[in-house]
Amino acid sequence: MNCLYAKILDDLYYIGANDRQTALFENMWPLPEGVSYNAYLIRDEKTALLDTVRINKVDGFINKVLEVLDGRKLDYLVIHHMEPDHSGCITDILNLFPDLIFVGNKKTKSMLYDFLELTPDDDKFIEVKDGDVLDLGKRQLQFVMTPMVHWPESMVSYEPNDKILFSQDIFGGFGTVDGAIFDDQADYNIFRSETRRYYSNIVGKYSMMAVKAIEKVKQLDINIICPVHGFVWRENPQTIIDDYEKWANYEVEDGVVIVYGSMYGNTEGMADHLATFLAKEGVKNIKVFDVSKTHASYILNEIWRYKGLILGSATYDNSVYPNMYNLLNVLKYNKIKNHVLGIFGSYGWSGGAVKDLKAFAETGKYDVLETVVEARGTMHKEEEDQLRLLAKEMAEKLK
Ligand code: FEO
Repeated sequence: MNCLYAKILDDLYYIGANDRQTALFENMWPLPEGVSYNAYLIRDEKTALLDTVRINKVDGFINKVLEVLDGRKLDYLVIHHMEPDHSGCITDILNLFPDLIFVGNKKTKSMLYDFLELTPDDDKFIEVKDGDVLDLGKRQLQFVMTPMVHWPESMVSYEPNDKILFSQDIFGGFGTVDGAIFDDQADYNIFRSETRRYYSNIVGKYSMMAVKAIEKVKQLDINIICPVHGFVWRENPQTIIDDYEKWANYEVEDGVVIVYGSMYGNTEGMADHLATFLAKEGVKNIKVFDVSKTHASYILNEIWRYKGLILGSATYDNSVYPNMYNLLNVLKYNKIKNHVLGIFGSYGWSGGAVKDLKAFAETGKYDVLETVVEARGTMHKEEEDQLRLLAKEMAEKLK
């Protein structure tokens, strides 16, 4: 019934859905490996559903909720995050259990109206703040506000008896959970890149807030992390905490990403030469992307990983190549830090691309390499020598 189900601990259940049909997350980010939407259900003296799933998975989800409740009514619906990939089935759940009590914060309440036109009475909405506790019987949920990770109303909850963190988007990733719901059932290395692509494209812009959120949750003694995308972390939760902490702090590895925009191969040729020169300088991790072919989310993922970034662009109508312009915007709003930046480009009857790349470099916190290479038409011996110099400067920065 398109819904996953697993017992995590006594009276704590995972209920989630794999989505392999949706092509683009938020209608922007490709999902070749799909994505999971995770929700959780606690059966205690009170019952509590922790988040829902996207509306396209409502039928299987409702069936599983009813199955796990096993004839009991739902007392609480805890809303950690209102983005529709998690709030999509709230109305359907409310229709089934009209007496349920929502649990959220002040912003959650206003978003319930904004997105779903729901206006619960005060006795049907428990408004929580940092540190507030919801008592379910044997288990309690202690709330921690994590604004802007991913939305302003985002919050997490902590169950102190079994030391479980319900972390909403934090510690999530792209990729379906294929049979393996728990981290110890699969090899995370296969999923790490898609997890970082999720982080860099969905959460990365709010990294400053992510650092604060991670600092807050690190104060908790955590045995299990239950996020709303990806694995439930019960064996090595520290693995995903460490990864998120590294990405949120823009900690980078040695390596260089070269991205080029090229119409007829002249700028592409410069990119290939540059990659060869970098390899000769001993740089080990070099990735070259055609900005017109590879979706920006993949390019950003690799940029998030590696310290070196070299952008090359053909001139198009006296400006930077349009597809490169899109990538520059992505980099600008993600506030990329800790990167060494190199620039090159080409032009036909006039320049413009390199000028625009230089202007872009001034808008961010980049360590910009001195040598900038600009070819008229195709690369000549002079530009080839300059590219060699640019590669040397980059290699030295990475040492
Ligand atoms: Fe998975 Fe911000 O929603």
